[in-house]
Amino acid sequence: MAGTFVIDGLGGKKTLRGSLPVFGEKNTALPLMAAAALISGESRFTNVPDIADVASMKSLLEGMGAYVTHSGSELSVRAEGLSGTVFESALAKSMRASIVLTGPILARMGSVTFPMPGGDVIGARPIDIFLDGFRKLGADVLETGDTYQLSAANGLQGGDIFFRVVSVTATETFMMAAALAKGPVTLRNAAMEPGVVATADFLKACGAKIRGAGTPTIEIEPSSLQPASEPFKIIPDRIEAATFLALGALAAEELVITGAEPSHMTAVLDAFSRMQVPISIDGNAITVRSPEKLGAIAIRTHEYPGFPTDAQPPVMVALTQAEGESSVIESIFDGRLMYTAELVGMGADIEIMSPHRAIVKGPTPLKARDIVGPDIRAGLAFVLAAAIADGTSHVGNAHLVDRGYQRIEERLKPLGLDISRKV
Ligand code: EPU
Repeated sequence: MAGTFVIDGLGGKKTLRGSLPVFGEKNTALPLMAAAALISGESRFTNVPDIADVASMKSLLEGMGAYVTHSGSELSVRAEGLSGTVFESALAKSMRASIVLTGPILARMGSVTFPMPGGDVIGARPIDIFLDGFRKLGADVLETGDTYQLSAANGLQGGDIFFRVVSVTATETFMMAAALAKGPVTLRNAAMEPGVVATADFLKACGAKIRGAGTPTIEIEPSSLQPASEPFKIIPDRIEAATFLALGALAAEELVITGAEPSHMTAVLDAFSRMQVPISIDGNAITVRSPEKLGAIAIRTHEYPGFPTDAQPPVMVALTQAEGESSVIESIFDGRLMYTAELVGMGADIEIMSPHRAIVKGPTPLKARDIVGPDIRAGLAFVLAAAIADGTSHVGNAHLVDRGYQRIEERLKPLGLDISRKV
């Protein structure tokens, strides 16, 4: 479903009320679906979000000969008949996460051909550390235009890979590829995101020998893989939960975010607590209320367990309503502050000091505006901005929000937000 969100903003009222469940994490569901391509048999997953990127990964896998079903929040991949090695170009270009499938296909089939992956417009997203890592494991890399052909006719070898940049998808890709390599693989300067740990847990449930996931050094020993005996539950989406927290901090009388995993959200919870947002945690439920005044804070995005770059846009919206001067340093992507120009157009006082640093002064009331989201996270941040603004906003490119959030308008409406979709 494409279209435009039409939002009649609350104009400063803090009346949202109700409970909002968090679904499974996009950035874990996608690598786990790719991991299933390593296994000759059926892999089952629960708590899978019904989002456009999951549908794209399903189609990519089907294009390679896997049989995939997705019903409700359950997803099954049967990869015994996997035969393809060439990615369907348009699908692969539609999302960055297509890159994670290169590891399993190369490891299992001995070759893989794929285009430069596309995805969000949030800055340069090269694949150099993937290519270097595959070379380290003995693969040949042939680059023709924007198409890459990797081959390892005799299988991937063991090796020691140091990632010069911490990369979530590279860590996941090489953990998966290494599970079928002929010798031990060590990954250094690995990402520590909960999704990396979940990917290791799934692979271990399939027989992989992995040590150190969740730390900077991951060691993978050769093993043989078979289908896990139990369905694997996708972890809660900490970015979705962070976004809902921002909405609650801005406009909720009381919002109960259910199905979250607060232990994955330390940096985000710390930021909201520094903003003086009343939050209480009871198991997997986080209750949030909008305070009289929000406090200005400094944040700096960082690899996990630091403050997640994907939560920067919604928190930026919250900071436009904070009393005083906030500072936001975006350390991961060099284009991930550009969307703030639209917030300025709505009345926010945000000064871009460099591609990596913004100063936000508040509070400034926001006025409704017609805006178009550039990516998944900024798109939903615009929904938040429109929700608190005075008047009716149109937020275009709803299909980008659909890549990461399951039917968001149907979930926000019951809280008392006047939001609909014009197709
Ligand atoms: N990088 C390189 N060379 C590479 C790969 C990455 O220089 O070969 C750089 C990137 O340019 C960036 C940094 O490494 O500056 C970190 O990027 P990373 O590779 O970690 O990002 P990613 O794995 O492509 C995942 C998420 C992103 C999230 C980032 C950072 C998935 C599918 N995507 O991307 O999620 O922002 O980690 O946490 O897991 C989103 O969901 O909206 C999203 C953009």
